[in-house]
Amino acid sequence: MSDPAAGRRLHVAIIMDGNGRWASGRGLPRTAGHRAGVEAIRRTVEAAPGFGIATLTLFAFSTDNWRRPRGEVDALMALLRRYLRAESDRLARSGVRLSVIGRRDRLPRGLGAEIAQAEMKAAGGDRLHLRIAVDYSSRDAILGAAARCAAGTPPSRESFGRLIAGEAEGAAIDVDLLIRSGGEKRLSDFLLWECAYAELCFSDRMWPDFAAEDLAVAVADYRRRERRFGGLGPVRPPAAVATRASPAAA
Ligand code: FPP
Repeated sequence: MSDPAAGRRLHVAIIMDGNGRWASGRGLPRTAGHRAGVEAIRRTVEAAPGFGIATLTLFAFSTDNWRRPRGEVDALMALLRRYLRAESDRLARSGVRLSVIGRRDRLPRGLGAEIAQAEMKAAGGDRLHLRIAVDYSSRDAILGAAARCAAGTPPSRESFGRLIAGEAEGAAIDVDLLIRSGGEKRLSDFLLWECAYAELCFSDRMWPDFAAEDLAVAVADYRRRERRFGGLGPVRPPAAVATRASPAAA
């Protein structure tokens, strides 16, 4: 293994793409793909701790997704509500801490309160931290952080990361491995700051078909990669390195 931190528990982020194509390929409405996508979420959450994943961040609804037809947006919000209602107790029992990142002020009435309630129920878990990104835009998070520190002293990477993550999350957690299903190869405004040194895995599997084995393959491939963080040999993440105004790494 070339990563000296190979045994370290990971932050894996997933762009769950391909629900619509999965459904269309079967002659089903796109919303059927999203429903099947929820099953893939359940499988992934269950499998994640076994693969050494400490934090799993799932992109459920981007700020740009508001541009989709009203019916699809409503269906996605309803699925989220149902997922929180159905799963929060189970998540709590299985040691999963849940948090939702992104804006809450534009969500359908009552959903913000249900999110807060689910987060409270599943606040104590330490087997896995499941983060669901809803009405999330990484650029907006970065802009918000910049606005909050515009007049003050220049921030360090850590303090700026805290502003990006928001009060509830505390710190920006660097992504170790970013997986995107569905065959496309782009980041789509997801965790841009946190993915500065993420290893990228693009899978052709449509999200509803994504299985524990696909996660296993992605993590095993990640563990074989040499992470240099701009240095010359395999090194640990540069958390302890002085970061304010430090030169850019390559
Ligand atoms: C992208 O596929 C997927 C989404 C925009 C939504 C992801 C949502 C879920 C998996 C279910 C709801 C989430 C929770 C947490 C309950 P796409 O629709 O863009 O697929 P396409 O590229 O094939 O059209």
